[in-house]
Amino acid sequence: MIVQNIDLKPFNTFGLSVQAQNYLAVQTLNDLAHIDPEIPFFVLGGGSNVLFTKDFEGLLVHIQLKGIEVWEENPEEVHLKVAAGENWHNLVLFCLANNWGGLENLALIPGTVGAAPIQNIGAYGAELSDVFMYLDFYDTQSKKISKMSHADCNFGYRNSIFKHSLKSKGIITALYLRLKKMPHALKLEYGAIKEVLAAKNQLSTPSIQQVARAVIEIRQSKLPDPQKIGNCGSFFKNPEVTWAQYESLKDNYPSLVAFKTNDPNLMKLSAGWLIEQCGWKGRNLGRAGVYTHQALVLVNLGGATASEIWTLAQRVQQDVLQKFQVMIIPEVNVL
Ligand code: EPU
Repeated sequence: MIVQNIDLKPFNTFGLSVQAQNYLAVQTLNDLAHIDPEIPFFVLGGGSNVLFTKDFEGLLVHIQLKGIEVWEENPEEVHLKVAAGENWHNLVLFCLANNWGGLENLALIPGTVGAAPIQNIGAYGAELSDVFMYLDFYDTQSKKISKMSHADCNFGYRNSIFKHSLKSKGIITALYLRLKKMPHALKLEYGAIKEVLAAKNQLSTPSIQQVARAVIEIRQSKLPDPQKIGNCGSFFKNPEVTWAQYESLKDNYPSLVAFKTNDPNLMKLSAGWLIEQCGWKGRNLGRAGVYTHQALVLVNLGGATASEIWTLAQRVQQDVLQKFQVMIIPEVNVL
C-alpha cells in the first residue's frame, strides 16, 4: 500500500530528515504491482548510499523482501538465493557460521543485498562480482521478473548497468551467489589485512572467520558507525586518471597515493589522500564534517540538514579540482 508524506530519517544512514511524498514498503513480490512505471521512483535498501538533498517527490520503494535459501549445492560449492531486502552483513555472518567462503572480506558493509550489485560493493581486495552468479530483476514496464547473468550486469569499479541503462527501469528482487566450501582461496593481498592477522599470529593459515574479524577491526578503526555518526561510507569514488596525468601529479606530489587498475593506461588515485591534502580531514562546515580517520567519509555531526552535507561535498570537490585538476565524483546517489 502506498502511503503519503513519510519522514525518511529512520531510512537513511546520514540521519537526514526529509519527506517522501509517496512511500511503498515491498514485503512480498505482489507488492511490486503497486509501482506505476510512469511515476518516477527510487529504490531504497538500507539507505546507506543515498543523500537526499531535498524532499523526494516521486515514489520511494523500500525493499523489505526477506529469505536466504540454499539453491544448489555440490561438494565444492553452495549457491545461495538471497532476497534483496536481507541485510548484507547478516548474510556475511550467516555464511561465516556455515563455513562458506567468499564474503569474508566484505564484512560489515552497511546496506541491503539488493543494493550490492548496483555499485558492485567492494572492500579489501574483494568485490560482489567475485561471488555473483545472477539476479532476479523486476521490470516495472512489463511487470515481469527475469534472470540477469554476470555478463548482463556489466560490473565495474563501483559500477554496473543499474547505474546506467537500467537506472529507474526496475527492481532487483534476489541475488544468486556462489560460495565455496573449504578449502577456499583467501584474498589477503590488501596490506592492512595481513598486518592485523600477523599481529595475532594468524597469518600462516587464517580461517575465513579470522579474515572477517580482521576486516571488521580495520573498518571499525577507520569508518564511523552509522548508528552513532550519520554517514554513507565513502562519499566519493577514487578517481581514475591517465598514466600521463598520474606521472605529472606524482612529480609535483611525491607522496601521492595511487593504485593500478586493470587498464594499464589508467591509475586510480586515493580520493581520501587528495581530500586530506586540501586540508579537509577532520574539518567541518557547520554540522557537516569530513571524518577524522578517513577523509573520504562525510559525516553528520548532529542535526545537519541535507543541504549542509551537499554544500560540504561540493566545497571538497571544488578544492580537489582546483589543487589537483582532478574531479572526484560522488559514489553515493545524490537525489
Ligand atoms: N588515505 C589517505 N587519507 C585518508 C584516507 C585514505 O591518505 O583520509 C590513503 C592512505 O594511504 C590509505 C589509502 O588511501 O592507505 C587507502 O585507504 P583505504 O584503505 O581506507 O581505502 P579507500 O581507497 O579510501 C576504498 C573504498 C572503501 C573500502 C576501502 C577498503 C572506495 C570509494 N572506497 O576506500 O569502501 O572500505 O577501499 O577496501 O573505493 C565504501 O564504498 O563506502 C567504502 C567504505
